[in-house]
Amino acid sequence: MDFIAQLKAKAKEKKQRIVLPEGYEDRTIKAADIILQEDFCDIILLGNPEMITSKAKEFSLTNLNKAIIVDPENHEKMELYADLMVEIRKKKGMTKEKAMELVKDPLYLSVLMIKNGDADGEVAGADNATGDVLRPAFQIVKTMPGISVVSGAFIMILKDHSFGENGMMVFADCAVHPNPTAEELAEIAVATGRTTQSIAGFEPKIAMLSFSTKGSAKHEMVDKVVEATKLAKEMAPDLKIDGELQSDAAIVPAIGQKKAPGSDIAGNANVLVFPTLETGNIAYKLVQRLAGAEAIGPILQGMAAPINDLSRGCSVSDIVSLVAITAMQAAKK
Ligand code: ACO
Repeated sequence: MDFIAQLKAKAKEKKQRIVLPEGYEDRTIKAADIILQEDFCDIILLGNPEMITSKAKEFSLTNLNKAIIVDPENHEKMELYADLMVEIRKKKGMTKEKAMELVKDPLYLSVLMIKNGDADGEVAGADNATGDVLRPAFQIVKTMPGISVVSGAFIMILKDHSFGENGMMVFADCAVHPNPTAEELAEIAVATGRTTQSIAGFEPKIAMLSFSTKGSAKHEMVDKVVEATKLAKEMAPDLKIDGELQSDAAIVPAIGQKKAPGSDIAGNANVLVFPTLETGNIAYKLVQRLAGAEAIGPILQGMAAPINDLSRGCSVSDIVSLVAITAMQAAKK
């Protein structure tokens, strides 16, 4: 069974309610139909019910009658969600009038449903940019206790099984937070360790990457990674973390032994934490293209509820896979 099939099987054991705010969008509607047929989670589709029914007919979809369809323009909890929004955002100047408008926006409606306990997770982004998906989530659902920053991890499935955990590695942050402080980088490392345990399903050996290994270079950017490594170890003494390490010292045993003797991570890392979003985003795309790796994600981590963002170029099958990951994250919570 492949990795996504395993996640679906596990998600099915404890079915969660996943909201898809882009219920007006063709790929999302087709993905919802497949998910409902495979039955690994419940689906809440946001969109005009007549339009969804007519699309179901047009595409000959037979499972959408099992979805809960909520019309953002006209639903029974509008007032309740608007009040919830005012309560959460009043310090930021939110008024009831503005909130009554925002509850019609599917991206706000979905996070308010999660906040109110009416849904367990969300997948969006087939039709909206990353920032537009994330901002409502940051504002309403916010981060989990002890974490101040949301980040995005990729599970990398490599062709060469000698690296990582039998060819599986986790990279972060590749998607969200452009320039983390040392404290934020430490949080990203801890969150990535937890994602590795709960979603990738192996024990993380976390390398905090830099252009220096154990003091080989002196620079304030190196100092940030050294400080982040120390903080991450304090935050999560149960996790195996080491740094600062160059990427070759992290993943090649002979180089790890030479540059960082005595380290139990150097040469054996299966989780790579990058010092900035620039490095993480560039690295995962290069490994995907040059090494032919499968990149599963981004899996957003550190949010108080599972919310994941698709690429606008996604396929129907990408949506189904990300819903499986989200359902699994929700089931583990
Ligand atoms: N974690 C938690 N909360 C955050 C984060 C974060 N990483 N970033 C911003 N916030 C919160 C802020 O505290 C603020 O909360 P408040 O309104 O309650 O005070 C709210 O979110 C809005 O903050 P802004 O700074 O106004 O958010 P902005 O929209 O400017 O930036 C964003 C957030 C969109 C995530 C930005 O950091 C961004 O664009 N990141 C890059 C995303 C991207 O393009 N990734 C690459 C493509 S994805 C890929 O290739 C896989």
